[in-house]
Amino acid sequence: MKTRKKLWGGGYGKATAGIVEQFTQSVSFDKRLAPFDIRGSIAHAEMLGRTGIISRKDSDKIVRGLKTILSDIEKGKFTWDESLEDLHMNIESELTRRIGEAGKRLHTGRSRNDQVATAFRLYCADASRRIIYAIRDLISAIDKVSKQYKGKLMPAYTHLQQAQPTTFDLWLSAYREMLLRDIARFEDAASLAMASSPLGSGALMGSSLPLDRKYTAEKLGFEKVSVSTLDSVSDRDFALELLFASALFQIHLSRLAEDLIVYSTKEFGFVKLDDSVTTGSSLMPQKKNPDVCELTRGKSGRVIGNLVSLLTTIKGLPMTYNRDLQEDKEPVFDSVDTVILSASAMSLAVNTMKFNSERAESAIDPSMMATDLAEHLVEHGMPFREAHETVARLIHSGVNLSKCVAADLEELHPLLKGAFNRLSPHESVRRRSKR
Ligand code: ARG
Repeated sequence: MKTRKKLWGGGYGKATAGIVEQFTQSVSFDKRLAPFDIRGSIAHAEMLGRTGIISRKDSDKIVRGLKTILSDIEKGKFTWDESLEDLHMNIESELTRRIGEAGKRLHTGRSRNDQVATAFRLYCADASRRIIYAIRDLISAIDKVSKQYKGKLMPAYTHLQQAQPTTFDLWLSAYREMLLRDIARFEDAASLAMASSPLGSGALMGSSLPLDRKYTAEKLGFEKVSVSTLDSVSDRDFALELLFASALFQIHLSRLAEDLIVYSTKEFGFVKLDDSVTTGSSLMPQKKNPDVCELTRGKSGRVIGNLVSLLTTIKGLPMTYNRDLQEDKEPVFDSVDTVILSASAMSLAVNTMKFNSERAESAIDPSMMATDLAEHLVEHGMPFREAHETVARLIHSGVNLSKCVAADLEELHPLLKGAFNRLSPHESVRRRSKR
């Protein structure tokens, strides 16, 4: 059996049991926080040196040591040790191994509670910004194809039943709006993460040492120093905001994916997805499956789940830090990875899709202009309820609007005189998209 290290020194007579070590460790996933954790540690070490809490010499040594560790981590040359529990302990112990005594001074006036809250906030702000880039890419793809097929007609649906004519670019502009709201939400999530610095809150009640919390907050780009140390070691609102923004963004992607799945079926045939984003069937030779869209739709399950997961973890936690909070990271990492990957795959799907405008236009049934006829009647003095009924009766009596000429319309109802151009889908869209 492997001899286990005694991690906690002092009063601990026994090493942690193997299963407990395995159960409590987080380094296998929280090592992703390393660049942010080290940024926080460097700011903290500099502050300790500037305030004279430790010597300048030790502070410089620590900063240099941390930089070499970060560079090794980035090169994949750092060996993580699960028996050291988390990334914080791994980095600190390696620092002391490298620079000796000075390394033991880094944790002065600090706890892993404020340390992890700081690193996680920096990670969340950075992740929000990376997601915004991915959304911008998708918007560019939407803009590109919208321009390419601008003004091309297609049916629009409510209840997935033909409703009124629209155009390809108007359809996509709905998604564009959703994505712009997503960007605003991720901007808010980033601002919330950077709103206040937990560093200096210690385990929960700060420190009796003369820490300069303002220095570390500014150095790390936080708006201000947190007001309540008790709150700031246990607050994960910023992570929840990011998870919510991610869940809603993934839902938007999923709806776009669903439209593309439906519109690319043989039955609809409005859209052709590029071969690079479809996959074949191992059995049916003719198949081209919209897997990218399906997986984007399917992955909404886990992204929504991640939000619910952290909400549930936090519900009922007593003040202040509890180890439960270690469970905050994996849902966030998973959501961030998933939305970025889904957005990138969907950008490719949108960028490379072809719109079959003939097919889409020919799918517009003339009855889709029924509302236009009713509105013509309204413009000629008929109350809307009566106009609705008049046109409904016409359509349900089996009049074939596609065969109608101008004179027929007038015969059907005298007020329909001059309404012939209302049967044009182009005209319908033109009159409706006046802004
Ligand atoms: N790995 C821990 C976490 O992610 C770090 C904080 C540990 N704090 C403690 N008091 N045990 O939450």
